[in-house]
Amino acid sequence: MQSYTLIAPAKINLYLEIIHDRPDGYHELVMILQSIDLADRLEIRSHGTQDFRLTCSHPQVPTNETNLAYRAAQLMKLEFSEAFANYGGVDITINKRIPVAAGLAGGSTNAAAVLVGLNLIWELGLTIPQLQRLGEKLGSDVPFCIAGGTVVATGRGEKLVPIGDLDSLWVVLGKYQSLAVSTSRAYQTYWQQFSHEYVSDRAVVNSRIFRVYSGPLVQAISQKNSQKIGQLLHNDLEKVVLPEYSQVMKLKKILQQTGGLGTMMSGSGPTIFTLCQSQQEAENIKYQARQAICDPNLELLITKLSSRGIQII
Ligand code: C5P
Repeated sequence: MQSYTLIAPAKINLYLEIIHDRPDGYHELVMILQSIDLADRLEIRSHGTQDFRLTCSHPQVPTNETNLAYRAAQLMKLEFSEAFANYGGVDITINKRIPVAAGLAGGSTNAAAVLVGLNLIWELGLTIPQLQRLGEKLGSDVPFCIAGGTVVATGRGEKLVPIGDLDSLWVVLGKYQSLAVSTSRAYQTYWQQFSHEYVSDRAVVNSRIFRVYSGPLVQAISQKNSQKIGQLLHNDLEKVVLPEYSQVMKLKKILQQTGGLGTMMSGSGPTIFTLCQSQQEAENIKYQARQAICDPNLELLITKLSSRGIQII
């Protein structure tokens, strides 16, 4: 029986700009996505019978078809029915370290790892771009999670252009364990409040995308100017998520006051992150934030930026 262990890293958004809504129910975005070292560990083991079994160390994570990792296995079965008939199903064990429903792509990176793992176990020989096209069918962040790194993402998040690597920087993550934000609800609220600002004229959309590609944040990333990167972080979804969750707003203010290069919400939240120049600075910020907010429900984690997506060990 074959078995693989995979490392599935989380991501943060250094930049998230919403351009307009689309007929398929998604939004056209321009983002800068960044992998981090904080990762789940998945074991994928073939067992020769004709089903998929999922277990997870985290009690809040469902183990049925509502789990994106389970859906990734089902998608592979559908697309490669001959390989499934030959090799059979697998046991998928997720050892969860990434906070759930946090804006860190925890579910997406687990799905990405299942695609990579089944590609190996079923000896399919799919390339990274082929796996990414499959990932698109599961969720907007799945293609990014496969290869990771520092990328500009456009479309609904699936069109990816790598722009260098930033793996020398550190990051403090703050998340209230019991707080979960629904991504679709955050986008819906944004649509309700800001759709009058949307632009869908193709030439204007292209110029908005070009403005990011040729803009100061991408430039700061390619020059590894960490001070500038910290100053230029941006996330449109903060405008709807922070006013709704006063705890998260307060956490952002405290993290901002404690220093670091810059502080921002990741994705649809509610995780707030602070970029740091060194591990020492990150430790110091974590300590100060813990002094300011004693609530044991607040999880504070330190990790590093990373240039890697799914890794097989
Ligand atoms: O792609 P994913 O399943 O992660 O998206 C979850 C929800 O977030 C979508 O159903 C949609 O409501 C919203 N979304 C969006 N535009 C995007 C990505 C996500 O409106 N580009």
